[in-house]
Amino acid sequence: MRSHYCGQINSAHIDQEVELCGWVHRRRDHGGVIFIDLRDREGLVQVVYDPDLPEIFQLAEHVRNEFVLRIKGRVRPRPEGTVNPDLPTGEVEILGLELEILNRADTPPFQLDEHERVSEEVRLRYRYVDLRRPEMLEKIRVRAKATQILRRFLDDSGFLDIETPMLTKATPEGARDYLVPSRTHPGQFFALPQSPQLFKQLLMMAGMDRYYQIVRCFRDEDLRADRQPEFTQLDIETSFLNEDEIMQLNEEMIRTLYKEILDVDLPDPFPRMTYHEAMDRYGSDRPDLRVPLELIDLQDVMASVEFKVFSGPAKDPKGRVAALRVPGGNTLSRKQIDEYTKFVGIYGAKGLAYIKVNEKAKGVEGLQSPILKFLPDEAVSAILERTGAEDGDLIFFGADKARVVNESLGALRVRLGEDLALMEGEWKPLWVVDFPMFEWDEQHDRWTPLHHPFTSPKLDQLDLLDSDPGACNSRAYDMVMNGVELGGGSIRIHQQDVQQKIFQLLEIGEEEAEEKFGFLLSALKFGCPPHGGLAFGLDRLVMLLTGSDSIRDVMAFPKTQTAACLLTAAPSDVGADQLRELSIRVRKPASEETSA
Ligand code: AMO
Ligand code: AMP
Repeated sequence: MRSHYCGQINSAHIDQEVELCGWVHRRRDHGGVIFIDLRDREGLVQVVYDPDLPEIFQLAEHVRNEFVLRIKGRVRPRPEGTVNPDLPTGEVEILGLELEILNRADTPPFQLDEHERVSEEVRLRYRYVDLRRPEMLEKIRVRAKATQILRRFLDDSGFLDIETPMLTKATPEGARDYLVPSRTHPGQFFALPQSPQLFKQLLMMAGMDRYYQIVRCFRDEDLRADRQPEFTQLDIETSFLNEDEIMQLNEEMIRTLYKEILDVDLPDPFPRMTYHEAMDRYGSDRPDLRVPLELIDLQDVMASVEFKVFSGPAKDPKGRVAALRVPGGNTLSRKQIDEYTKFVGIYGAKGLAYIKVNEKAKGVEGLQSPILKFLPDEAVSAILERTGAEDGDLIFFGADKARVVNESLGALRVRLGEDLALMEGEWKPLWVVDFPMFEWDEQHDRWTPLHHPFTSPKLDQLDLLDSDPGACNSRAYDMVMNGVELGGGSIRIHQQDVQQKIFQLLEIGEEEAEEKFGFLLSALKFGCPPHGGLAFGLDRLVMLLTGSDSIRDVMAFPKTQTAACLLTAAPSDVGADQLRELSIRVRKPASEETSA
């Protein structure tokens, strides 16, 4: 039907006849001449119809936005003064000789270049229109290129692409499962995989040595900009490699990706930081290293002050008192500080104390703060000294349970970095290592794994499993880029006794372990190689590579924050027959039952 893509036409084609197919981006009538911007995947070109061909001209008059056309015409230079340097095809136009309307279109729900005027809901409902926007097309294209580069790298490194089941048993990755009822086993359910974790380990036990898969994962969890219920992992597993070898291989892959897509040279090697250092300095296990601000501990300084807001957490072994110095921050207005106070409230902070440093030389007189009256002079000088505050700075304080202080000041740090344009450098990759094996779940009064329960403890810390599980570190590693957790993995447990011990610690009884992971435990008995791997969030990777704010923008058909697909209106009710066949009776939520 066509000889070229619209976006390919340029001055090399002058005087040639071309045939193009595409969508009407815009139609303009200009004193007896009709201009049609015709658009396809590769771009946009201007087609001109003049009244010399009356029949075609008349047809062109009926054309509206988003009609699908096939045109034939001759390429010619644009008249002087009408060249459009912003458009790759901007030096030429096509004199239309033929025109066929392949399909008409209703007025679209939004004009492509006015997408910002409509809500994301409208864009998602009419996603096929939204995806026609060049920016969206570009993101989808980068995604395709990225997967191609990743596949090539892994193929070249001897990895086998192997598929694993979607209808399977629950994989514990910390989220709720999506369940699928079985018709042939009434009352029983499959779980969609939260990850292929168990299968990839079984593949190592099967001797596949190096596995990868670009694979859909399903997690029913609270959604955010970087989380979707259905997302894609680049999942990797290897045998007989230690953590250093795995990290080296994977950062090489990410370096290749950045080089080929963005022509960016990432550092070699990526810096590494322990989990504890990351929490202490940045309040986060995925610190954005572009922000130069750091949390500074004031535990010792505050333990003895009378101000209970500070001394309480300072004396609490689970508490933390920390400061965040903001260079030049004393220009922040009361309103801005109130705004930040509200912001840290999201993370549970009960307030956001601050000191403005106007003139250090004047001592306490040169400071401005609602908490000075509660602090002795020695404490104030210790704060100034430790934070290294200079005239013009502002110091924020967090005092609470360590978790609250870390989360609130950690998030504030990044927010300030953005608001005050403090970011340094463009790409800051990092490996976070030496994670604790477990964290204490206050609510249920028991240990939970920081990663999944198949993660190996450090071999020289096995004793701690008995004496002090909280102090035992794992052989896990996370790759972080600009504050985003891109991927994570670990060396796995390959000995049955260690695996059983971990289950015991997690209070997974023998029966439960057998029922849930019996197949894995028995596979450990039949010749299991030492193995390990990791998984990247492909959507997050592409989000970063394309400078997008949300992973929704790099998925062709994403779901909403409430895990619904607006385009297809899924999830939806199913018929009584289908439910009966599945042996399922639906109990509507109480509110609906009473109102019915
Ligand atoms: P983990 O749970 O850390 O590890 O997941 C790996 C990576 O997947 C991405 N990711 C998500 N992306 C979008 N939406 C989500 N809801 C979502 N959840 C996770 C993140 C994350 O770093 N089996 C282990 C890996 C291993 O140990 O090999 C696993 O799934 O980028
Ligand atoms: P208050 O005594 O509650 O009026 O608090 C005095 C100052 O301390 C205010 O600026 C509060 O924002 C701040 N503040 C209160 N609680 C905390 C906290 N847990 N961490 C940091 N600052 C706090």
